[in-house]
Amino acid sequence: MRGIVLAGGTGTRLHPVTRAVSKQLLPVYDKPMIYYPISVLMLAGIREILVITTPHDREQFERLLGDGAQWGVRIDYAVQPSPDGLAQAFLIGADHLAGGPAALVLGDNIFYGHGIGDTFTESVATVERDGGCTLFGYRVSDPERYGVAILDRDGTLVDIEEKPEKPRSNLAVTGLYLYDPDVVELAGRLQPSARGELEITDLNRVYLQRQQARLVDLGRGAAWLDTGTQDAMLEATQFVQVLQHRQGITIACLEEVAMRRGYITAEQALVLGEEMGKSGYADYLRRTAREFLEMGTLP
Ligand code: TTP
Repeated sequence: MRGIVLAGGTGTRLHPVTRAVSKQLLPVYDKPMIYYPISVLMLAGIREILVITTPHDREQFERLLGDGAQWGVRIDYAVQPSPDGLAQAFLIGADHLAGGPAALVLGDNIFYGHGIGDTFTESVATVERDGGCTLFGYRVSDPERYGVAILDRDGTLVDIEEKPEKPRSNLAVTGLYLYDPDVVELAGRLQPSARGELEITDLNRVYLQRQQARLVDLGRGAAWLDTGTQDAMLEATQFVQVLQHRQGITIACLEEVAMRRGYITAEQALVLGEEMGKSGYADYLRRTAREFLEMGTLP
């Protein structure tokens, strides 16, 4: 399965901050926001990644992420001329997907939780084996802001509603979506919604009608944060800071993810840490790479 990170958009809810800088390049505590969704794809075992940006932000993303070889992955770039909806990612990314299955992650979504990498990896395997699509649900206090999933008594997905005024559940559909190879053709048949966008919820409803949509509830042990508003940005930053300070770990350290998954060696990770200089992120990377070299494993 190949991956797409959708990192365009206008970020109007963060203006004036995002008038000159892409939202997904802003820091969430100690690293750029886009590190978090890239780590999700890497944790899911996806190594061919397309980053979709606005035309004017592309160069900065390339400067930050390069071709991905430093993390043992391949990163390509494409642009979305205007923010015409999340489902447009599959039309822009059609060549990248090369007729295979697809994972889409939104560039402003943060996932964290024990075992979440395994959950994603298993879900990728399910879609590769059985087809259809897999969505991930998370219970929130403000479901009316999201696509909302409705399950029956057995936990089977029976409906999805986009930003309902009166939500029938508090289970939000998060910004990670896995699809079989039909996704490109199905996205191509969508009509723009009233707000002029190709809606991911409409695409998911097509899979639902085909009885090929499933939902994995991430459960209360996981955290899912989006970063669309100033308060959400601050909360995400505080969340990452508290967790990292308390546990002495770094969330979404891409070199560590690459090392753990065997995409790069501990020696290579150490070199990357040594090249990075004095930041806390670099300190952590050097420490973790040395521990891996000495112990041959990591906790
Ligand atoms: P949104 O938060 O819906 O949109 P936005 O980022 O432009 O922000 P605002 O609502 O404040 O104007 O987008 C969710 C994510 O998807 C975000 O990472 C940007 C990305 N996106 C695109 O890349 N292209 C699009 O067409 C849309 C709608 C969003």
